[in-house]
Amino acid sequence: MPVITCIDDLKQLYRRRTPKMFYDYAESGSWTEQTFRENTSDFDQIYLRQRVAIDMTGRSTASQMVGQDVSMPVALAPVGLTGMQCADGEIKAARAAEQFGVPFTLSTLSICSIEDVAEHTNKPFWMQVYTLKDDDFMTRLFDRAKAANCSAAVITVDLQMLGQRHKDLKNGLSAPPKLTPKSVANMMTKVHWGLGMLGTNRRTFRNVMGHAKGVSDPSSLSAWFAEATDHTLNWDRIRQFRKMWDGPLIIKGIMDARDAHEALNAGADAIIVSNHGGRQLDGALSAIRALPEIMDAVGDKIEVHLDSGIRSGQDVLKALAMGAKGTYIGRAFVYGLGAMGEAGVTKALEVIHKELDTSMGLCGRTDVQTLDRDILMIPRGFSGDWE
Ligand SMILES: Cc1cc2nc3c(=O)[nH]c(=O)nc-3n(C[C@H](O)[C@H](O)[C@H](O)COP(=O)(O)O)c2cc1C
Repeated sequence: MPVITCIDDLKQLYRRRTPKMFYDYAESGSWTEQTFRENTSDFDQIYLRQRVAIDMTGRSTASQMVGQDVSMPVALAPVGLTGMQCADGEIKAARAAEQFGVPFTLSTLSICSIEDVAEHTNKPFWMQVYTLKDDDFMTRLFDRAKAANCSAAVITVDLQMLGQRHKDLKNGLSAPPKLTPKSVANMMTKVHWGLGMLGTNRRTFRNVMGHAKGVSDPSSLSAWFAEATDHTLNWDRIRQFRKMWDGPLIIKGIMDARDAHEALNAGADAIIVSNHGGRQLDGALSAIRALPEIMDAVGDKIEVHLDSGIRSGQDVLKALAMGAKGTYIGRAFVYGLGAMGEAGVTKALEVIHKELDTSMGLCGRTDVQTLDRDILMIPRGFSGDWE
């Protein structure tokens, strides 16, 4: 058993154990990948202020996100095709999150369906919803989420069109994977992954297949999705979705103060400052750099969460100290899942928890709920002074 001390250890194992097509799918951003890279490197520009000789006993990372208790304010972000990174991946990740006491968010484009995950978990999870034109599909998705007892809906608003990721086109990404001489040769070297996939019947988009009109075979799904995404989306449409869901509603993909106000007016309970992990608008600011402007605009009126670029508990600490009430990890948990299945997701959460807890203590603080900017050294002009 390898000794895992950080998220990067999980990433190295994940790379060795998962077919290239799926590793590349997760480990890429759109076009030049500038935003993907800066999401992580911008965290390094912020420094933590070391304090000493302060009683650091009785530390707590417990908090709430949209009124729900969490053992630390770090949820698992919705990640499409998670069940291709590891057999039954969504179920495994949801179980690990449940055990750890943090929310799991199921993607609309998941391999395990809402019903699959509900059947194999004991606590409510969150449902991510893409904004699609098909009213019937949308209504049923919300109804299915209610029936599965989901405790929050996350509406993703930054994917009206798909940002191009070069590697997915070159690899011919699909679920199940297309069998070409190259992909078969690569998959044959991933024995554990292959055995897992042979042992499950969850290998296609089970949230969509059989639920969306005109999608009966997986190969038509990408064409359906491109056609189904709503280029005309506006805030009135989002208000319609608000009416379809009476539980906590989180709007994901906010990078501008004006959009944060719109989300507030649309009745959201929380927003996620996010650029989709650098997978959509390449050239956008990193999420952590966009956070201060949004905190200033709406931070006292709505719960603000953040994702994109978090790879450590120190990153979580920085986001919380800048005012975010919650954070999400996407790739960091996928690395764990691809490396070691459910145990790997648990390991990712343990790593981040330990880093958060220890770093908080070394900053002289004992409670994640009372963090503030005093523990940070943020370079002048970090958020930018733009024309
Ligand atoms: C492989 C992959 C698939 C994703 N699929 C979805 C998705 O289906 N729905 C969604 O709202 N966001 C999706 N995202 C974005 C994540 O929810 C999240 O915003 C992002 O991963 C955060 O950045 P991080 O990976 O640097 O933590 C995906 C991200 C990755 C890496």
